[in-house]
Amino acid sequence: MKYINTFSEDIKVSQVALGCMRIADMSASEAEQYISQAVELGYNYFDHADIYGGGECEKVFGTGLALNKSLRDKIIIQTKCGIRRGMYDFSKEHIINSVNNSLKSLGVEKIDVLLLHRPDLLMEPEEVAEAFDYLESSGKVGAFGVSNHSASQIELLKTCVKQNIKINQMQLSVTNATMVSSGANVNLQNKDGINYDGYLRDYCRLNKITIQPWSPLQQGFIAGTFLGHPEYKELNEKLRTLAEKYGTTDTGIAIAWLLRLPEKMQPVVGSTNMTRLEEISKATDITLSKEDWYDIYLTAGYKLP
Ligand SMILES: NC(=O)c1ccc[n+]([C@@H]2O[C@H](COP(=O)([O-])OP(=O)(O)OC[C@H]3O[C@@H](n4cnc5c(N)ncnc54)[C@H](OP(=O)(O)O)[C@@H]3O)[C@@H](O)[C@H]2O)c1
Repeated sequence: MKYINTFSEDIKVSQVALGCMRIADMSASEAEQYISQAVELGYNYFDHADIYGGGECEKVFGTGLALNKSLRDKIIIQTKCGIRRGMYDFSKEHIINSVNNSLKSLGVEKIDVLLLHRPDLLMEPEEVAEAFDYLESSGKVGAFGVSNHSASQIELLKTCVKQNIKINQMQLSVTNATMVSSGANVNLQNKDGINYDGYLRDYCRLNKITIQPWSPLQQGFIAGTFLGHPEYKELNEKLRTLAEKYGTTDTGIAIAWLLRLPEKMQPVVGSTNMTRLEEISKATDITLSKEDWYDIYLTAGYKLP
């Protein structure tokens, strides 16, 4: 596993984070094994949200941590808030209540990183700022970020929020890469020229915000993996051929494709299978050639004008 410095020189975070959206059905001992085995593989960054598994994922994770107290100091815990049934809510009251619930569910004193999950259409940046100030000064949250936010939405938050926005978690995979393809189609009237995100890659790079690609092995909006999927026959053949060349698997190449982006992204993978997590951890050592990176891009169906 390789490590990056998202927060400071002395805090090393694993270049791939482990998302905990799929752990709601684990027992306490299974959760303890999942965390400790992932830590042995080099993962030290765990992503949650107050809503995963209807709140169960944080609780299950907490039961795992309770069985092995030594784990807490070895990991960074990130969680998210702001999504409620039928609405998004960045009110001060909701943000603070959600963090208090997450602390209780996880059984920890501090959330290392808090993200705002999806932009609240009725967001008042002043309220977010008050919530962040309270959470920071009370020691309940260490660092802040967002998810699924455009560049201008982050700028709007920054008019009031004084903490650095360190993370923007966005969906990005080989088959869901409009954030990448828009950069090659500036000012062109074609499908890839549609700018869905306001050139977020450039904005985040300029502002030292780490992009965390979520669902990096899924086709679209959590629509099932493209790996081995018949609809992506040509892409899968390409990934397998390159897997042989680089001594990894199709999963490893799909992650290496994201890691080849020069701004040092931190994909959030969601596997609960340790063999797969080991392949992914090892893939952080792979540097795809430019030729192979573009070959995958074109085989996935994106075009160069
Ligand atoms: N910010 C947001 O709005 C947002 C939204 C969604 C998710 N997330 C975060 O992103 C994390 C990851 O999401 P995700 O779980 O969708 O990520 P993912 O890593 O793209 O997908 C994981 C799923 O794909 C399966 N898979 C992986 N490789 C496979 C292969 N070669 N063949 C067949 N199946 C394979 C895994 O099964 P196995 O377990 O069997 O390996 C698992 O079910 C979540 O846990 C969450 O933390 C954030």
